[in-house]
Amino acid sequence: MYDLVKKSLFLMSPENAHDFAFFMGEKIQSSDFLFSKFKKSFPLKEIKPVEIFGLKFPNPVGLAAGFDKNARIVPLLDQLGFGFVEVGTVTPLAQEGNPKPRLFRHPESHQILNRMGFNNYGMEALAKNIESHKKKYQLQSPLGVNLGKNKITSAEDALSDYVKLASGLKDHGDYFVVNVSSPNTPGLRDLQESAFLLKTAEELKKILQKPVLVKLAADLENSDLDSLVIDINKSDFDGLILCNTTIDKSNSSWAKDLGPGGISGRVLRLRSREMLMLAKARSTKPIISVGGVDSADEVQWRLDKGASLVQVYSELIFQGPYFVQSILQNLK
Ligand code: FNR
Repeated sequence: MYDLVKKSLFLMSPENAHDFAFFMGEKIQSSDFLFSKFKKSFPLKEIKPVEIFGLKFPNPVGLAAGFDKNARIVPLLDQLGFGFVEVGTVTPLAQEGNPKPRLFRHPESHQILNRMGFNNYGMEALAKNIESHKKKYQLQSPLGVNLGKNKITSAEDALSDYVKLASGLKDHGDYFVVNVSSPNTPGLRDLQESAFLLKTAEELKKILQKPVLVKLAADLENSDLDSLVIDINKSDFDGLILCNTTIDKSNSSWAKDLGPGGISGRVLRLRSREMLMLAKARSTKPIISVGGVDSADEVQWRLDKGASLVQVYSELIFQGPYFVQSILQNLK
Protein backbone atom coordinates (compact mmCIF):
# COMPACT_ATOMS: atom_id res chain seq x y z
CA MET A 1 0.00 0.00 0.00
CA TYR A 2 2.77 2.45 0.94
CA ASP A 3 4.48 1.58 -2.36
CA LEU A 4 1.53 3.12 -4.17
CA VAL A 5 1.37 6.17 -1.91
CA LYS A 6 5.16 6.50 -2.10
CA LYS A 7 5.05 6.53 -5.92
CA SER A 8 2.69 9.53 -5.82
CA LEU A 9 4.58 11.27 -3.02
CA PHE A 10 7.88 10.81 -4.83
CA LEU A 11 6.40 12.43 -7.96
CA MET A 12 5.98 15.64 -5.95
CA SER A 13 8.84 17.89 -4.91
CA PRO A 14 10.22 16.69 -1.54
CA GLU A 15 8.85 19.65 0.36
CA ASN A 16 5.41 19.42 -1.29
CA ALA A 17 5.33 15.71 -0.44
CA HIS A 18 6.18 16.53 3.19
CA ASP A 19 3.43 19.18 3.31
CA PHE A 20 0.92 16.82 1.71
CA ALA A 21 1.77 14.01 4.18
CA PHE A 22 1.24 16.45 7.06
CA PHE A 23 -2.06 17.66 5.57
CA MET A 24 -3.26 14.04 5.41
CA GLY A 25 -1.87 13.31 8.87
CA GLU A 26 -3.83 16.19 10.36
CA LYS A 27 -7.00 15.02 8.61
CA ILE A 28 -6.63 11.51 10.06
CA GLN A 29 -5.79 12.84 13.49
CA SER A 30 -8.79 15.14 13.65
CA SER A 31 -11.31 12.43 12.75
CA ASP A 32 -12.18 9.98 15.56
CA PHE A 33 -13.29 7.43 12.98
CA LEU A 34 -10.13 7.63 10.81
CA PHE A 35 -7.82 7.79 13.82
CA SER A 36 -9.29 4.69 15.43
CA LYS A 37 -8.93 2.79 12.11
CA PHE A 38 -5.36 4.09 11.83
CA LYS A 39 -4.47 2.93 15.36
CA LYS A 40 -5.40 -0.67 14.56
CA SER A 41 -2.76 -0.81 11.80
CA PHE A 42 0.13 0.01 14.16
CA PRO A 43 -0.21 -2.35 17.15
CA LEU A 44 3.42 -2.69 18.32
CA LYS A 45 4.74 -0.29 20.95
CA GLU A 46 6.05 -1.88 24.13
CA ILE A 47 9.15 -3.80 22.93
CA LYS A 48 12.40 -3.66 24.93
CA PRO A 49 11.34 -0.73 27.11
CA VAL A 50 14.07 1.58 28.41
CA GLU A 51 14.11 3.61 31.59
CA ILE A 52 16.53 6.50 31.46
CA PHE A 53 16.70 10.19 32.48
CA GLY A 54 13.88 9.29 34.89
CA LEU A 55 11.61 8.68 31.87
CA LYS A 56 10.02 5.47 30.63
CA PHE A 57 10.47 4.80 26.91
CA PRO A 58 8.19 1.97 25.66
CA ASN A 59 10.86 1.06 23.10
CA PRO A 60 14.27 2.46 22.14
CA VAL A 61 13.39 3.77 18.65
CA GLY A 62 12.55 7.47 18.45
CA LEU A 63 11.82 10.01 15.75
CA ALA A 64 14.65 12.53 15.32
CA ALA A 65 14.18 16.30 15.27
CA GLY A 66 13.28 18.17 12.11
CA PHE A 67 10.46 15.97 10.87
CA ASP A 68 7.62 17.50 12.89
CA LYS A 69 9.17 20.89 13.61
CA ASN A 70 5.92 22.42 14.87
CA ALA A 71 4.42 19.41 16.67
CA ARG A 72 1.54 19.23 14.21
CA ILE A 73 1.04 15.46 14.12
CA VAL A 74 2.51 14.24 17.40
CA PRO A 75 -0.46 11.93 18.28
CA LEU A 76 -0.19 10.25 14.88
CA LEU A 77 3.58 9.79 15.22
CA ASP A 78 3.11 8.44 18.75
CA GLN A 79 0.69 5.94 17.26
CA LEU A 80 3.13 4.75 14.55
CA GLY A 81 5.04 3.00 17.33
CA PHE A 82 7.89 5.39 18.12
CA GLY A 83 9.29 5.00 21.63
CA PHE A 84 9.73 8.79 21.74
CA VAL A 85 9.18 11.72 19.43
CA GLU A 86 11.39 14.81 19.26
CA VAL A 87 9.75 17.94 17.86
CA GLY A 88 11.49 21.13 16.67
CA THR A 89 13.96 22.52 16.06
CA VAL A 90 11.94 25.41 17.45
CA THR A 91 13.27 28.96 17.70
CA PRO A 92 11.85 31.74 19.94
CA LEU A 93 10.38 33.65 16.97
CA ALA A 94 8.80 32.13 13.88
CA GLN A 95 11.10 32.18 10.86
CA GLU A 96 10.76 31.17 7.23
CA GLY A 97 14.04 29.38 6.76
CA ASN A 98 16.10 29.41 3.59
CA PRO A 99 14.74 29.98 0.07
CA LYS A 100 13.33 26.96 -1.79
CA PRO A 101 14.33 24.51 -3.14
CA ARG A 102 15.99 23.45 0.09
CA LEU A 103 15.13 19.76 0.41
CA PHE A 104 16.41 17.02 -1.92
CA ARG A 105 16.15 13.23 -1.77
CA HIS A 106 17.85 10.39 -3.59
CA PRO A 107 15.77 7.21 -3.25
CA GLU A 108 18.37 5.06 -5.02
CA SER A 109 20.95 5.60 -2.28
CA HIS A 110 18.57 6.57 0.54
CA GLN A 111 20.09 10.01 1.07
CA ILE A 112 18.55 13.39 1.83
CA LEU A 113 20.16 16.81 1.57
CA ASN A 114 18.51 19.69 3.37
CA ARG A 115 19.21 23.36 3.95
CA MET A 116 15.86 24.15 5.55
CA GLY A 117 17.35 26.67 8.00
CA PHE A 118 15.04 26.11 10.99
CA ASN A 119 11.80 27.07 9.24
CA ASN A 120 9.25 26.92 12.06
CA TYR A 121 6.22 28.68 13.55
CA GLY A 122 8.04 29.79 16.72
CA MET A 123 7.77 28.71 20.34
CA GLU A 124 4.29 30.08 21.10
CA ALA A 125 2.72 28.15 18.25
CA LEU A 126 4.61 25.00 19.24
CA ALA A 127 3.33 25.32 22.82
CA LYS A 128 -0.26 25.75 21.59
CA ASN A 129 -0.05 22.72 19.34
CA ILE A 130 1.31 20.52 22.12
CA GLU A 131 -1.33 21.76 24.56
CA SER A 132 -4.15 21.03 22.16
CA HIS A 133 -2.86 17.49 21.48
CA LYS A 134 -2.52 16.77 25.19
CA LYS A 135 -6.12 17.85 25.81
CA LYS A 136 -7.43 15.27 23.37
CA TYR A 137 -4.86 12.51 23.46
CA GLN A 138 -2.77 10.75 26.06
CA LEU A 139 0.72 10.35 24.56
CA GLN A 140 2.20 6.91 25.23
CA SER A 141 5.80 7.95 24.62
CA PRO A 142 7.98 10.76 25.97
CA LEU A 143 8.05 13.97 23.95
CA GLY A 144 11.36 15.75 23.34
CA VAL A 145 11.66 19.41 22.31
CA ASN A 146 14.70 20.42 20.26
CA LEU A 147 15.75 24.06 20.77
CA GLY A 148 17.64 26.38 18.40
CA LYS A 149 18.48 30.05 18.09
CA ASN A 150 16.88 32.39 15.57
CA LYS A 151 18.96 33.28 12.53
CA ILE A 152 18.84 36.99 13.46
CA THR A 153 20.22 36.29 16.96
CA SER A 154 23.95 36.87 17.20
CA ALA A 155 26.26 34.25 18.69
CA GLU A 156 26.78 36.52 21.74
CA ASP A 157 23.01 36.48 22.40
CA ALA A 158 22.49 32.78 21.66
CA LEU A 159 22.20 31.83 25.33
CA SER A 160 19.30 34.25 25.77
CA ASP A 161 17.40 32.47 22.95
CA TYR A 162 17.88 29.08 24.65
CA VAL A 163 16.79 30.58 27.98
CA LYS A 164 13.64 32.10 26.38
CA LEU A 165 12.80 28.74 24.84
CA ALA A 166 13.30 26.88 28.10
CA SER A 167 11.12 29.35 30.02
CA GLY A 168 8.36 29.29 27.40
CA LEU A 169 8.30 25.56 26.80
CA LYS A 170 9.21 24.00 30.15
CA ASP A 171 5.76 22.48 30.68
CA HIS A 172 5.53 21.16 27.15
CA GLY A 173 8.30 18.59 26.81
CA ASP A 174 9.53 15.60 28.78
CA TYR A 175 13.13 16.23 27.71
CA PHE A 176 14.90 19.06 25.88
CA VAL A 177 17.76 19.23 23.42
CA VAL A 178 20.20 22.08 22.85
CA ASN A 179 20.83 22.01 19.13
CA VAL A 180 24.21 23.51 18.26
CA SER A 181 24.80 21.26 15.28
CA SER A 182 22.61 22.26 12.35
CA PRO A 183 24.81 23.26 9.41
CA ASN A 184 22.09 25.53 8.01
CA THR A 185 22.14 28.37 10.55
CA PRO A 186 25.30 30.44 10.07
CA GLY A 187 27.57 30.34 13.12
CA LEU A 188 25.44 27.85 15.09
CA ARG A 189 28.03 25.09 15.07
CA ASP A 190 30.65 27.44 16.50
CA LEU A 191 28.65 27.21 19.73
CA GLN A 192 30.01 23.68 20.12
CA GLU A 193 32.59 24.83 22.61
CA SER A 194 32.88 23.94 26.25
CA ALA A 195 32.38 27.31 27.94
CA PHE A 196 29.14 28.02 26.06
CA LEU A 197 27.79 24.51 26.50
CA LEU A 198 28.53 24.29 30.21
CA LYS A 199 26.89 27.66 30.89
CA THR A 200 23.86 26.78 28.74
CA ALA A 201 23.39 23.44 30.49
CA GLU A 202 23.55 25.11 33.89
CA GLU A 203 21.02 27.83 32.99
CA LEU A 204 18.59 25.50 31.25
CA LYS A 205 18.70 22.89 33.98
CA LYS A 206 17.80 25.53 36.57
CA ILE A 207 14.74 26.57 34.55
CA LEU A 208 13.58 23.22 33.28
CA GLN A 209 14.32 20.76 36.09
CA LYS A 210 13.98 18.10 33.38
CA PRO A 211 16.47 16.15 31.27
CA VAL A 212 18.52 18.40 28.98
CA LEU A 213 20.64 16.90 26.19
CA VAL A 214 23.00 18.36 23.62
CA LYS A 215 23.05 17.38 19.94
CA LEU A 216 26.43 17.51 18.20
CA ALA A 217 27.52 17.71 14.56
CA ALA A 218 28.85 14.86 12.47
CA ASP A 219 31.65 17.09 11.20
CA LEU A 220 33.43 17.66 14.51
CA GLU A 221 37.07 16.60 14.41
CA ASN A 222 37.52 13.46 16.51
CA SER A 223 39.86 15.29 18.86
CA ASP A 224 37.24 18.04 19.38
CA LEU A 225 34.55 15.45 19.99
CA ASP A 226 36.80 13.78 22.53
CA SER A 227 37.44 16.94 24.52
CA LEU A 228 33.81 18.07 24.32
CA VAL A 229 32.63 14.72 25.67
CA ILE A 230 35.04 15.01 28.58
CA ASP A 231 33.73 18.51 29.37
CA ILE A 232 30.11 17.43 28.94
CA ASN A 233 30.79 14.73 31.58
CA LYS A 234 31.36 17.59 34.04
CA SER A 235 28.34 19.59 32.87
CA ASP A 236 24.65 19.60 33.83
CA PHE A 237 23.71 17.94 30.54
CA ASP A 238 21.95 14.62 31.02
CA GLY A 239 23.02 13.10 27.72
CA LEU A 240 24.26 13.45 24.16
CA ILE A 241 22.62 13.04 20.76
CA LEU A 242 25.04 11.94 18.05
CA CYS A 243 24.73 13.15 15.35
CA ASN A 244 23.24 15.81 13.14
CA THR A 245 23.59 15.89 9.32
CA THR A 246 27.00 16.19 7.65
CA ILE A 247 28.26 18.77 5.17
CA ASP A 248 30.96 16.33 4.04
CA LYS A 249 30.08 15.40 0.47
CA SER A 250 33.14 13.25 -0.18
CA ASN A 251 31.04 10.07 -0.05
CA SER A 252 28.13 11.46 -2.02
CA SER A 253 28.53 12.10 -5.73
CA TRP A 254 24.77 12.79 -5.85
CA ALA A 255 24.93 15.73 -3.42
CA LYS A 256 27.93 17.42 -5.01
CA ASP A 257 25.99 19.73 -7.35
CA LEU A 258 23.06 20.49 -5.07
CA GLY A 259 24.57 23.43 -3.22
CA PRO A 260 25.02 23.77 0.53
CA GLY A 261 23.21 21.67 3.11
CA GLY A 262 23.43 18.72 5.46
CA ILE A 263 23.28 15.14 4.22
CA SER A 264 21.51 12.36 6.06
CA GLY A 265 20.52 8.76 5.49
CA ARG A 266 22.66 5.71 4.78
CA VAL A 267 25.69 7.79 3.79
CA LEU A 268 25.87 9.05 7.39
CA ARG A 269 25.85 5.60 8.96
CA LEU A 270 29.58 4.98 9.29
CA ARG A 271 30.30 8.41 10.78
CA SER A 272 27.40 8.11 13.20
CA ARG A 273 28.62 4.66 14.29
CA GLU A 274 32.15 5.99 14.68
CA MET A 275 30.99 8.92 16.80
CA LEU A 276 28.99 6.60 19.03
CA MET A 277 32.03 4.43 19.67
CA LEU A 278 34.40 7.37 20.24
CA ALA A 279 31.99 9.08 22.61
CA LYS A 280 31.05 5.88 24.42
CA ALA A 281 34.70 5.30 25.28
CA ARG A 282 34.78 8.61 27.16
CA SER A 283 31.24 9.57 28.14
CA THR A 284 29.66 9.01 31.51
CA LYS A 285 26.33 10.23 30.10
CA PRO A 286 23.72 8.31 28.09
CA ILE A 287 23.95 8.60 24.30
CA ILE A 288 21.17 8.70 21.72
CA SER A 289 22.55 7.45 18.41
CA VAL A 290 21.16 8.81 15.13
CA GLY A 291 22.31 8.80 11.51
CA GLY A 292 21.71 6.19 8.83
CA VAL A 293 19.67 3.79 10.96
CA ASP A 294 17.60 1.74 8.51
CA SER A 295 16.78 -1.61 10.14
CA ALA A 296 16.27 -3.54 13.36
CA ASP A 297 19.81 -4.94 12.97
CA GLU A 298 21.22 -1.43 12.88
CA VAL A 299 19.19 -0.42 15.94
CA GLN A 300 20.49 -3.51 17.73
CA TRP A 301 24.07 -2.71 16.67
CA ARG A 302 23.81 0.77 18.21
CA LEU A 303 22.31 -0.62 21.41
CA ASP A 304 25.04 -3.28 21.61
CA LYS A 305 27.69 -0.58 21.25
CA GLY A 306 26.23 1.28 24.20
CA ALA A 307 23.60 3.65 22.83
CA SER A 308 20.74 4.03 25.30
CA LEU A 309 18.28 4.99 22.60
CA VAL A 310 18.28 5.35 18.80
CA GLN A 311 16.58 7.84 16.49
CA VAL A 312 15.58 7.72 12.83
CA TYR A 313 14.53 10.29 10.24
CA SER A 314 15.55 9.79 6.58
CA GLU A 315 14.62 6.14 6.48
CA LEU A 316 11.05 6.95 7.53
CA ILE A 317 10.79 8.86 4.24
CA PHE A 318 12.16 5.96 2.20
CA GLN A 319 10.47 3.06 4.01
CA GLY A 320 7.20 4.73 4.98
CA PRO A 321 4.92 4.69 8.01
CA TYR A 322 5.33 0.95 8.76
CA PHE A 323 9.07 1.39 9.20
CA VAL A 324 8.93 1.59 13.00
CA GLN A 325 6.57 -1.39 13.22
CA SER A 326 8.93 -3.47 11.08
CA ILE A 327 11.88 -2.52 13.30
CA LEU A 328 9.94 -3.40 16.44
CA GLN A 329 8.85 -6.71 14.97
CA ASN A 330 12.44 -7.67 14.21
CA LEU A 331 14.11 -6.27 17.29
CA LYS A 332 15.48 -9.27 19.10
C1 FNR B 1 17.01 17.15 9.94
N1 FNR B 1 17.68 17.08 11.15
C2 FNR B 1 17.43 18.03 12.11
N2 FNR B 1 18.05 17.93 13.32
C3 FNR B 1 17.81 18.84 14.29
O1 FNR B 1 18.35 18.72 15.39
N3 FNR B 1 16.94 19.88 14.06
C4 FNR B 1 16.29 20.03 12.87
O2 FNR B 1 15.49 20.95 12.71
C5 FNR B 1 16.55 19.10 11.84
N4 FNR B 1 15.98 19.22 10.63
C6 FNR B 1 16.15 18.24 9.68
C7 FNR B 1 15.46 18.33 8.47
C8 FNR B 1 15.61 17.32 7.52
C9 FNR B 1 14.87 17.42 6.22
C10 FNR B 1 16.46 16.22 7.79
C11 FNR B 1 16.61 15.09 6.78
C12 FNR B 1 17.14 16.15 8.97
C13 FNR B 1 18.66 16.00 11.41
C14 FNR B 1 18.01 14.74 11.94
O3 FNR B 1 17.39 14.96 13.18
C15 FNR B 1 19.07 13.61 12.10
O4 FNR B 1 20.02 14.02 13.04
C16 FNR B 1 19.76 13.30 10.78
O5 FNR B 1 18.87 13.37 9.71
C17 FNR B 1 20.44 11.94 10.80
O6 FNR B 1 19.50 10.90 10.90
P1 FNR B 1 18.99 10.05 9.63
O7 FNR B 1 18.13 10.97 8.83
O8 FNR B 1 20.19 9.61 8.87
O9 FNR B 1 18.18 8.92 10.22
